[in-house]
Amino acid sequence: MNEHANMNGKICVVTGANSGIGKETALGLAQMDAHVVMVCRNAEKGKAALEDVRRESGNSQVDLLIADMSSQASVRALAKQIIAKYPRLDVLINNAGGAARERKLSADGIEMTLAANHLGPALLTLLVLDLLRASTPSRIINVSSEAQRRARPDMNDLQFERRKFNTFAAYGQSKLLMNAFTFELARRLEGTGVTANCLHPGVVATNIWGADPPFIFKMIIAVVKPFMLSSKQGAEASLYLATSPDVAQTSGQYFVKSKPAQSSPLSRDPRIAAEIWGWTETMIGQRLA
Ligand SMILES: NC(=O)c1ccc[n+]([C@@H]2O[C@H](COP(=O)([O-])OP(=O)(O)OC[C@H]3O[C@@H](n4cnc5c(N)ncnc54)[C@H](OP(=O)(O)O)[C@@H]3O)[C@@H](O)[C@H]2O)c1
Repeated sequence: MNEHANMNGKICVVTGANSGIGKETALGLAQMDAHVVMVCRNAEKGKAALEDVRRESGNSQVDLLIADMSSQASVRALAKQIIAKYPRLDVLINNAGGAARERKLSADGIEMTLAANHLGPALLTLLVLDLLRASTPSRIINVSSEAQRRARPDMNDLQFERRKFNTFAAYGQSKLLMNAFTFELARRLEGTGVTANCLHPGVVATNIWGADPPFIFKMIIAVVKPFMLSSKQGAEASLYLATSPDVAQTSGQYFVKSKPAQSSPLSRDPRIAAEIWGWTETMIGQRLA
């Protein structure tokens, strides 16, 4: 990792920045002298994280914006604030995400995991794309998961209306959609100077595993706990993709802990990606301008 990269003058947005990987990513960028915009859904948690990042980095150019990535109105309001407040956008890190324990609906009536992990980030990306285009070379980084590898999305039932809801299936599916969307986005942005990549951060000891995880997660945690990474280690891949000159030209790739990797065959299938792209545009009511 290029720990001493200088990001002075660069503006970087990190969603889900109040805890875990996102907070460490914000801190790492602030330590590299970037102007960091931390996006958090809870104002109180956000303010506490903002203070921590400012104090630990010694960088006062760290801001906080509040948004719920599962709500399209909230994401639209966030994009408006970013566009109004900042003259440029060099790095967008779509890091916020989670795994709903049961099937519940977002404010827009969409299955929550899909809404927060894929549709919200996709909407934010399309809404701020002109700013990214005006700031080239610029980078979009989508924090995905190896859970995409085993996902088998049913394109006719992405919201588990007919299938029985399963936390892991819904989570993996949302990340597969995120990867396929990233690859399609990269294809569409070819030659523009805006890159788009996605990554698996490793298995990281964060709040995502929950205070009282469902049985399947408990089993996974029991097996992997001794090997789990710290949040700081979990942020390394995001920081690498956001700052390293080695990947300045790289686009449409999936990384596992800063190493290029093959995403699942389903996520790389251009026919499926086109279907996911079209479905996403319909669900968010936004097209690539
Ligand atoms: N930890 C792992 O092993 C692992 C593995 C693969 C991928 N990932 C991915 O890494 C990313 C970061 O997760 P983490 O492990 O650092 O977990 P975390 O500590 O729980 O952090 C998740 C962050 O996302 C925020 N968030 C969740 N839903 C949101 C919403 N609807 N709107 C706005 N913010 C929202 C959370 O806010 P609150 O604090 O308010 O909930 C928190 O700031 C996620 O995308 C996750 O899927 C993690």
